[in-house]
Amino acid sequence: MKERWFVPYRYKMVEKISVPEKSERWNILKSGGFNMFSIPSEKVYIDLLTDSGTGTMSDKQWSAIVSADESYAGSRSFFDIKKSVKEIMGFDNVLPVHQGRAAEKVLNSVLIKEGMYVPGNTHFDTTKAHIENAKGRCIDVTISESENSNSNYPFKGNLDINRLEKEIEKVTPQKVAYILITVTCNSGGGQPVSMKNIKDVSKIARKYGLKLFFDAARFAENCYFIKTREDGYQNKTVREISNELFSYSDGFTMSSKKDAIVPMGGLLVVRDINLFDMLKPFVILNEGYLTYGGMSGMTMAALAQGLYESTDFEYLHYRIGQVKMLGELLKEASIPVVTPIGGHAVFIDGRRFFPNIPEDQFPAQYLCAALYEAGGVRTVEVGANLADRDPDTGENIRPKLDLCRLAIPRRSYSFEHMMYIVETVKEVFQNSKNITSGFQFDFESKGIRHFSSTFKLVDSNKDSLFN
Ligand SMILES: Cc1ncc(COP(=O)(O)O)c(C=O)c1O
Repeated sequence: MKERWFVPYRYKMVEKISVPEKSERWNILKSGGFNMFSIPSEKVYIDLLTDSGTGTMSDKQWSAIVSADESYAGSRSFFDIKKSVKEIMGFDNVLPVHQGRAAEKVLNSVLIKEGMYVPGNTHFDTTKAHIENAKGRCIDVTISESENSNSNYPFKGNLDINRLEKEIEKVTPQKVAYILITVTCNSGGGQPVSMKNIKDVSKIARKYGLKLFFDAARFAENCYFIKTREDGYQNKTVREISNELFSYSDGFTMSSKKDAIVPMGGLLVVRDINLFDMLKPFVILNEGYLTYGGMSGMTMAALAQGLYESTDFEYLHYRIGQVKMLGELLKEASIPVVTPIGGHAVFIDGRRFFPNIPEDQFPAQYLCAALYEAGGVRTVEVGANLADRDPDTGENIRPKLDLCRLAIPRRSYSFEHMMYIVETVKEVFQNSKNITSGFQFDFESKGIRHFSSTFKLVDSNKDSLFN
């Protein structure tokens, strides 16, 4: 009998949401400079801006919160995290931090000296910014399949092993601070990395005496893809796969707001005890004492429990199935989505959606704004705006793909919400070929610009983005 797809939880609490009037949505967009971050969340109907800190916590997480330990030093809730990390990832040296970028800041402050490089698979924006802030540079060595939004390659987050080796030789191994693998690769479309690729990268790291770190915000989703797509892993549990995956690395940074399903929290975990000792003062200075590091005991308790829940196969099967279902429904309606559908989000190719908006007029950003205007659905651009400028030349970077990301919060939205999203995208798509102009910057923020830059319409006579 074919296995049924089922929702592995029921709702115990709800939050009222509503759709603002169309004219109000237009005014909000215009007054906020078409920047998605400037929209008040109460004016959003379905919020797909991010899957970060937006998941719904479980009854077990809430009960862990009630019995959390808020002690400054030696908190029991910290030891709960240590236990989860040991069981799921196999590491002993755990530094708590308030969120993922804090872990990046601490790690890069210690490992990067001016002129060093960090090769990896499309570094996330805060990761890249922290590397550059420490006077390092990123080298993107993601496989070329990742550049084709139509390709169905199952592990588009993989690193190109030959290019990785060539880049290491070119800049010399002494100038490589470490190698970074982001699992799954958020900026590359939520695409996973195969175990084989991780093994191959770790061999290269050993060959050149380099450290290999993971950006593990969505490690559990990556493990699910390995289990369901890679030969030899079907009969392993997600926990077993996770233990193997981390065994190839020297440590990881983690934004726990994603797979660990907490509103706030992060981890910096390393294998090498000497490195651990070097990192400690930076955590104390920037984050807090070593057994809380910027998190409350309540957050730590929920995080420890969330890590276990994130590796539950039934949960992951439903979670990734829901994202896939949304992607498939959009694909059926001829919407140009990135395939295969990613783990935490569906990505729409802005250049293919609006083929007549010039590439330098931000088609994906335009799509984000149009979806909000059409239905109060908030998404985010992962494209030319986010790519920013080259830190050395000051030139705008033209990314391989200009995407609108529909990130699905964990355990938060229903099938009916997914259908509403599909109808909203279809409404904008109907007339998309007739749209011939997009946005230009009104205010371009310096550095990590997509959070606070604003736009104006190239055609200022428009009174709607999609008709
Ligand atoms: C892959 C990845 N790394 C790092 C971060 C940064 O984490 P945080 O937002 O917790 O600082 C994010 C956040 O979205 C992410 O997706």
